[in-house]
Amino acid sequence: MSMKIPFLSKQSKEESDSLSEENIPNHVAIIMDGNGRWAQKRGLPRFAGHKEGVSTVNKIVKTAVRANVKVLTLYTFSTENWKRPKQEVEYILKLPKEFLHVYLPSLMENNVRIQTIGDFQALPDHTQEAVSYAIEKTKNNTGLILNFALNYGSRHEILKAVKQIATELKEENMDMDSLDEDTFSKYLYTKGVSDPDLLIRTGGECRLSNFMLWQLAYTEFWFTDKLWPEFTEDIFYEALLAYQQRKRRYGGI
Ligand code: FPP
Repeated sequence: MSMKIPFLSKQSKEESDSLSEENIPNHVAIIMDGNGRWAQKRGLPRFAGHKEGVSTVNKIVKTAVRANVKVLTLYTFSTENWKRPKQEVEYILKLPKEFLHVYLPSLMENNVRIQTIGDFQALPDHTQEAVSYAIEKTKNNTGLILNFALNYGSRHEILKAVKQIATELKEENMDMDSLDEDTFSKYLYTKGVSDPDLLIRTGGECRLSNFMLWQLAYTEFWFTDKLWPEFTEDIFYEALLAYQQRKRRYGGI
């Protein structure tokens, strides 16, 4: 049976296996894995998988908007992905521009705001220009925040924060006693964005791959064997439903 987002219901999860609109995760983060394997299975070059992955991004953004998710963070390119063959790296880093060229009008219609996390300045100029244009164009939109993790690595992010804080302490612009978790969070790329409530990883691997290590401390994890290009609205729905069946205790009882 196909279970679709439009069947969002006010019923509690005990009363129904349909999604309750009261307990939608505020922030969903996704590790979009399996593009290469999807292509290989079809005898296609790896880039064909990344291209198909862009269509999935479009579908899942629309679904997130309909489900009333507030922030969707997508792991698009990691600091480790530079190790891939040069041609593949160049291809992936052209995808934001292609995606925005095709879908920016529909993102505007859907009131979506684009943001990024990661070392933006180290990206190729064409990627920076396309994404900066979209950030500027969508900056007054008040709906879903679509947050691309681009040249993102969590250890790099944490180390950068530590270095900045150390400088502030040394220059006596910060008092050691005022350094708490909230203050530390303000030095991360995710400053001002709530931590993910739900992490989804496609492609069958059960690891974090240097993704949001600080921010995922109390996040609910959901893994699927489905490869990213095969990920559908129904599978997203399944993940949201699984989230709604979890009991979050944050270390309490
Ligand atoms: C991981 O799959 C995927 C990536 C490193 C790239 C992710 C990029 C996209 C989904 C497209 C980007 C979309 C936009 C809108 C900019 P993999 O290549 O590691 O797959 P494998 O594990 O099967 O080899």
